[in-house]
Amino acid sequence: MTMLRVDDLHAWYGKSHVLQGVRFSVHPGEIVALLGRNGSGRSTTAKAIMGLLDASGRVDFKGAALMGRKPYEISRMGLGYVPESRDIFPALTVHQNLMLGQKSGAAAGRWGFDDMYQMFPRLRERQHTEAGVLSGGEQQMLTLCRTLMGDPDLIIIDEPTEGLAPQVVEQVAGYLQNLRSRGVSVLLIEQKLTIAMAISDRALVMGHGQIVFEGTPQSLETDAAAVRREWLEV
Ligand SMILES: Nc1ncnc2c1ncn2[C@@H]1O[C@H](COP(=O)(O)OP(=O)(O)O)[C@@H](O)[C@H]1O
Ligand SMILES: [Mg+2]
Repeated sequence: MTMLRVDDLHAWYGKSHVLQGVRFSVHPGEIVALLGRNGSGRSTTAKAIMGLLDASGRVDFKGAALMGRKPYEISRMGLGYVPESRDIFPALTVHQNLMLGQKSGAAAGRWGFDDMYQMFPRLRERQHTEAGVLSGGEQQMLTLCRTLMGDPDLIIIDEPTEGLAPQVVEQVAGYLQNLRSRGVSVLLIEQKLTIAMAISDRALVMGHGQIVFEGTPQSLETDAAAVRREWLEV
């Protein structure tokens, strides 16, 4: 079964036709990198999938059609979203933020508080601290953890390494591999080729609102110099 299938996805901001027939799939247990330059349409793709924008086309998640559903409904179906903007409640503590991510009423998911605190010892140290005083990187990790508390089968994570030091980028790569090893699929939106090369099973490149390349990260590196020059390297 395909985890996520996007077909002929279009979206507009006013009269500007930003997504022009986006098409790709994510299979269970895969990390798929969605690469592209700033403004290529990656975040818009994520928002359209999550029901946060008016869009047309077809999006199927675990075999169910998503178009027309509300964002909360989509996340409850098991599609987690970690947006570019750090999406935390600054006046609540770290622990309270995690509680808010828990799936209500459901049986225990695959992640608990201890898993989060083991993965991110820094969050354990700061569990009773107001989230608003955490560093940018810590807030990003808290956003990821809150999403995981909802027990997603797939997460879409938008530029998680933006502005992080190289050492922290490596950590993030490790966390995402950890998610995959526990059965969570990942759609990783990135600008940099490096993290995608290191951990993704497949790479997609977006340009002007369309997928302009799909293949293994190795083939993008060795056979697709023109794609990299035109759509990735600045
Ligand atoms: N809220 C918005 N209103 C109008 N245009 C937008 C808005 N958000 C993004 N855009 C435009 O849509 C295009 C795609 O943006 P985006 O999806 O954010 O790209 P990426 O995430 O790949 O950097 C860009 O031309 C951008 O300027
Ligand atoms: Mg973006």
